[in-house]
Amino acid sequence: MNSIEAFRYLQPETTAWRRQLHEHPELEYRLYNTAGFVAEKLASFGVDHIETGIAETGIVALIEGCKNGPTIALRADMDALPIIEQSKKSWCSKVPGKMHACGHDGHTAMLLGAAKYLAASRRFKGSVALIFQPAEESGEGGQRMVQAGIMDRFSISKVFGLHNVPGIEVGHFGICQGPIMAALDEFDLIVKGRGGHAAKPHEAIDPVVIAAQIIVGLQALVSRRTSPMEALVISVTKLNAAQAYNVIPDQVDLAGSVRTLVPGLREFAQGQILAAAQGIARGFGADVDFEYRRCAPVTINHPGETDLAVKAARNLVGSACVDEKISPRMGSEDFAYMLEARPGAVIFLGNGSTASLHHPGYDFNDEALPYGIGYWANVVETVLAL
Ligand code: NI
Repeated sequence: MNSIEAFRYLQPETTAWRRQLHEHPELEYRLYNTAGFVAEKLASFGVDHIETGIAETGIVALIEGCKNGPTIALRADMDALPIIEQSKKSWCSKVPGKMHACGHDGHTAMLLGAAKYLAASRRFKGSVALIFQPAEESGEGGQRMVQAGIMDRFSISKVFGLHNVPGIEVGHFGICQGPIMAALDEFDLIVKGRGGHAAKPHEAIDPVVIAAQIIVGLQALVSRRTSPMEALVISVTKLNAAQAYNVIPDQVDLAGSVRTLVPGLREFAQGQILAAAQGIARGFGADVDFEYRRCAPVTINHPGETDLAVKAARNLVGSACVDEKISPRMGSEDFAYMLEARPGAVIFLGNGSTASLHHPGYDFNDEALPYGIGYWANVVETVLAL
């Protein structure tokens, strides 16, 4: 295992790759140029096996060590977001309305950098499977890669992930055992009243007033019905009513998301959002239609693999730069599906004081590249130590 200085030689080359990916962002499963770029680089490093077209544009590549042993997987996501970039940088997005606002360009470049290092050095037993997945942002790409059978087909025994985090210093890492990122669910709620003239509210059943009470009422599920020691976030984010100043609409459409860290809270939220909305609406002579969809599950780091990740990071940057008891984040991550399929852990990599993820002013910090590459290399040389 090596400290960070051993990986700095890869910075200029991986910075060029990262910026090239940044200039040409692609969305969801339609990552044809990105996946082509990744496959071409992997072939040029002399990896032992490349399979493309998994879950449309996903890739798994294998690098064999210098003697027999188990296979572990390292995962990067490759997709961008439908955001208009606000940047004057020379490598800003050349595709209008699309940008790498979550740093998946950096994640892809770092896993390629690690592939180059590992294919050249091979100081490990067993094999490394490099997973490049599509469609993390829609929350399904990771699930589809698992459903495509990659864990069994490549005999993967453990799986590791990494995500950059603005606000953590470059060269620092954060991780915790157990839940580290939240489950995500989405709901649609239609409040069905009776429309009419805004001047005669008593002849209508105004769904706007009822919707307003429901929005406030849902927050009481968080503050009054959930233990203060357990995290539940309910956010109503969409609200559609009439299009005129003088019309009471027939219905109001609400939608939003629910985030939880404890599996039982998902059932609670699903049942109680409906009960509260129905109770409020029926009290005023209205009713509701309700739909609730489970998206990504809680991302749960396994204890043994978290310890291995901490060890790999500490050997790279020293103990003082690795926080092994970071607070979980309420964002979600489709790597959760891979951690349901195999033991593993995801770690946060400092991106410095940049704009936040998904912000039009965000950019992956190229100074972080050698840290991500070194972390991957150390994970392999720790878990598959000779
Ligand atoms: Ni992301």
